[in-house]
Amino acid sequence: MLTLQLALLSSLCTTALARWIVPGARWTDTDGQIANAHAGCVTIEEDTGLFWWFGEYKAEGQVEGGGISVYSSEDLVTWQHHGLALEPIENHEYISPEAVIQRPKVVYSEATGKYHMWWHADDSKYSLLLQGLATSDTIGGPYEFVSATAPLGNWSQDFGMLTDYKDGKTYALYSNGDRVDARDIYLTAFNDDITELDVVTHRWDKFDLEAPTIIQTKQSYFALMSHKTGYRPNNVVAFRADSLSGPWSQPFMVAPPNTRTFNSQSGFSLRIEGTETTTYLYMGDQWDQRSLWESRYIWLPMRINEEKKTLELEWHDVYDLNVTTGIVSPIEGTAYYGKDATVSGDAFKQEANFADYGTIVTGIEGNDNTVTFAGVKGAGRPQWVSFYYQNTDDMGFGDQPGGTPDRINGTWVLRRISSVVVNGNEEEVHTLYERDTHKGVILSTPLLLSLNEGDANTITVGGLSNGNGTKGADLEKIIVYPPEPGV
Ligand SMILES: *[C@@H]1O[C@H](CO)[C@@H](O)[C@H](O)[C@H]1NC(C)=O
Ligand SMILES: *[C@@H]1O[C@H](CO)[C@@H](O)[C@H](O)[C@H]1NC(C)=O
Ligand SMILES: *[C@@H]1O[C@H](CO)[C@@H](O)[C@H](O)[C@H]1NC(C)=O
Ligand SMILES: *[C@@H]1O[C@H](CO)[C@@H](O)[C@H](O)[C@H]1NC(C)=O
Repeated sequence: MLTLQLALLSSLCTTALARWIVPGARWTDTDGQIANAHAGCVTIEEDTGLFWWFGEYKAEGQVEGGGISVYSSEDLVTWQHHGLALEPIENHEYISPEAVIQRPKVVYSEATGKYHMWWHADDSKYSLLLQGLATSDTIGGPYEFVSATAPLGNWSQDFGMLTDYKDGKTYALYSNGDRVDARDIYLTAFNDDITELDVVTHRWDKFDLEAPTIIQTKQSYFALMSHKTGYRPNNVVAFRADSLSGPWSQPFMVAPPNTRTFNSQSGFSLRIEGTETTTYLYMGDQWDQRSLWESRYIWLPMRINEEKKTLELEWHDVYDLNVTTGIVSPIEGTAYYGKDATVSGDAFKQEANFADYGTIVTGIEGNDNTVTFAGVKGAGRPQWVSFYYQNTDDMGFGDQPGGTPDRINGTWVLRRISSVVVNGNEEEVHTLYERDTHKGVILSTPLLLSLNEGDANTITVGGLSNGNGTKGADLEKIIVYPPEPGV
């Protein structure tokens, strides 16, 4: 009993901070390790109602291989790691550590009584363009390799999957690659066993998109896909239809233009049918090209209007998603504005008609040109703080003006990185990654900070080196959120 309580206590200590969903934060599992399941999917286990998250596992510095990791959760927030669901095998033709094992999706097959994992199987040159299949008797695996095949003889790159909740039929959704005679997206029905593809349901002809996912609502299907800009984010689009075979609508953007889908790429979406409402969750990846394993996740509710036939991602810095009721509750925080902050050195407040109170702080650089928010109220426990910033570098040195963020002469560089210091404690400098936004576009990014109890805290923001200077992004405001319940 005592050991059980101790175990519970220690697991509470490491996981208690994970009750709320904080898009773009550094998410950790119940062991305190970074959540490492990129370009993945979440499958709901029917008997238990547990959420199982599968995704690409990357060791530090790794690009290919890595296998597929698996986590389980009751609430979509507290994730327990179960190791690798699909482990690479040395010298294996399709799942060696050098192979591409991307975008896994897992579904239960009534016919075989097994869980089927499908993914984009390839070599490191993307010359095979196959779909891999591995199966397991239990959802958590380990999965055993079955085959890697060409879907109906064609090519298959970025892989998605959909099971229609009304008739139970499962479909594969895949781009057929970058070759000139490819560049389509296919939606193809599986056979009843989900062991091979059966018949093409729809083809998005020459749209040249990738990272597809379909979310099904009561009346509609929305197919979300990104453009092809590698690991750099772009404006994700959606198509709508009444039926999977179409006709499909014109594509439209799902987030405010130039936010590049809140700096994320599509890849998966989840329908959460609660007792009070159904929530549609967008599950995107925020890739970190310098360091893929550290890439983060942007999970956001989607606002869908069936009458207007629209779908929009709903940004929240911090929100509660009750998976029982299906209700999303944004958490309220306290804002501290740049216009009221103190600046030092060459940092200064500048007119910005797109910012709150028409003011943004710019010229933040190194240790000497900083902005300090004073009188910040804290709880004496770790709490989320969101930094609202603008990074205008996109048009600067990019080789494709306007299209490719965070690049210097064609090379991906995170151009603005800030230092964050609480109460002048230079011993503990927090790193704030401020990815490209666009001119006039303000986005936010979170850090977990420990503030003292009371309202005498200061938060100072300067610039850290990006390897080519120490400029921070421009700051509009910060929002300080209450600590999560039970912390
Ligand atoms: C794949 O499909 C495209 C059309 O979508 C076609 O042009 C191409 O020849 C096909 N490739 C193969 C290998 O069947
Ligand atoms: C979800 O909502 C129900 C109904 O309000 C409540 O009883 C339950 O405690 C909530 N779950 C969590 C994890 O907060
Ligand atoms: C980019 O490359 C060009 C041509 O090599 C060079 O003139 C320019 O200085 C470079 N700019 C940056 C920011 O590196
Ligand atoms: C930063 O970029 C400039 C322009 O390309 C270059 O001349 C300089 O050497 C770079 N500095 C560092 C530290 O890389």
